[in-house]
Amino acid sequence: MNIEIINGSVIEFLCDTVIVNLFEGVLVPDGATGAVDKALNGHISEIIRDMPGCGKYGETTIVHTFGALGAKRIILLGLGKKSEFSLDKARALMAVAMRTARKVRSKTVATIVHGAGSAGLDDSQAAQAIVEGAIMGLYQFRYYKSAKDEVPNIEDLLIIESDSIKLDAINKGAERGRIVAESVNYARNLINHPAHYMTPAKMAWYAGEIAKQYGLEINVLEKEDLEQNGMGALLAVAQGSVEPPKLIVLKYLGNPTSQETIAYVGKGITFDSGGISIKPSQNMDEMKRDMAGGGAVLGAMMAIGQLKPKVNILALVPCTENMPSGSALRPGDIITSMSGKTIEVLNTDAEGRLILADAVTYAKRLGASKIIDLATLTGACVVGLGTVYSGVITNNREWCHTVISAAQQANEKMWELPNDEEYLEQIKSSIADLKNSGGRPAGTITAGLFIGQFAEKTPWVHVDIAGTSDADKEKGYNHKGGTGAGVRTLIQLATNLGTL
Ligand code: BES
Ligand code: MN
Ligand code: ZN
Repeated sequence: MNIEIINGSVIEFLCDTVIVNLFEGVLVPDGATGAVDKALNGHISEIIRDMPGCGKYGETTIVHTFGALGAKRIILLGLGKKSEFSLDKARALMAVAMRTARKVRSKTVATIVHGAGSAGLDDSQAAQAIVEGAIMGLYQFRYYKSAKDEVPNIEDLLIIESDSIKLDAINKGAERGRIVAESVNYARNLINHPAHYMTPAKMAWYAGEIAKQYGLEINVLEKEDLEQNGMGALLAVAQGSVEPPKLIVLKYLGNPTSQETIAYVGKGITFDSGGISIKPSQNMDEMKRDMAGGGAVLGAMMAIGQLKPKVNILALVPCTENMPSGSALRPGDIITSMSGKTIEVLNTDAEGRLILADAVTYAKRLGASKIIDLATLTGACVVGLGTVYSGVITNNREWCHTVISAAQQANEKMWELPNDEEYLEQIKSSIADLKNSGGRPAGTITAGLFIGQFAEKTPWVHVDIAGTSDADKEKGYNHKGGTGAGVRTLIQLATNLGTL
């Protein structure tokens, strides 16, 4: 989809659909909607009187213009209460409006920057939000459908602004929004592909494509390299699968003179059957998305390669399947991680923390000064926080604050959980240093703290995206399937660290 910013008025513009808006309770619209109302001889005001609900959040009313405007039709987008409007609502509503426009087969769509007018949002941020909403909202995963593109996609999005002073800010925001949203959609693709396709080798191939296109350094550690580095925890998870494991390492050097290197670590289990501690077959298909943390890290690196913040980022994605077989890891086995710490494996389904343990140790070995990991780590997180919030665990107050602030700016919800050392009792083993399962109580916390045992003194934040990385239905800018949770936060975090 082409995106163009145009200085002008929505009235004369030749296009299929123009999106204007209406706050709840407004009887006589002003701004762009007011101009459209005038051009239509008060038609919009009449519609408002007739259907008082059309300003409600998420309402879309299609009005045909029959030649009175350049546009064939108008989508009147309900923004809800003005006092409750926000960037995230602009993002979600734009997604809804664009899908409505696509449904009525629009090829060229014009819009104003919703929220930049009387709602008082920052012009650049609002432009970014609506472009993100448009691109994330139109996302479709159709690789495995035989009838390609049943509904033709929108080809052009024109952002119309009458005030020329705002154009620069809108241009910048829109370009950033395009980069961010395309990276989110890229991560969604990685997540939505089934596991027979999205193997560890494929993950490494996609990482290679990103590195090539955006000028990042790449190194993929093969099984032999993992053996040489003594990564016994990652290898233990991989030993039951015929797919060889890979540890993807991408490097972005945005501030070569700085000693700071931030590690982005993402869980890359391309299929989690549970291993010998096998999962029930119901919904096991969902475990193709157990690489969503890794997918988010790769998506974020794609944006970072384009936005070029002044910061050094090291991305690590340990990739393997977790499968049962004659060679699989057994409950009761004791493995030695790269750090030297020994782990009693009580449950082979608690595999994420094992591969992340070695990835975090390797990140430190490569010089990471701060670490953030993203992982679909625990079912307990879905029970505790549902699909709304990701769960956060840290060993460092300041770093955690930095991460959660970036998440808030990106409008991704994250909630910190307690990290008191009493919880560590649950993961101490009687015959090894650690055990990989702390039982049911506080399952998200003990899983996170297990990874923290390998971060040691290095500032570290863990984000459990088990509930947020996938949606069961279309809502706002999300779709059924992978959401790309974490991508926007990781991009925002790199941007913030690069502008300190
Ligand atoms: N990948 C799962 C966690 C998960 C569950 C992600 C549901 C997304 C949706 C993880 O590897 C797992 O199996 N965790 C176990 C840990 C337990 C065995 C200690 C769990 O949560 O049941
Ligand atoms: Mn598991
Ligand atoms: Zn898993």
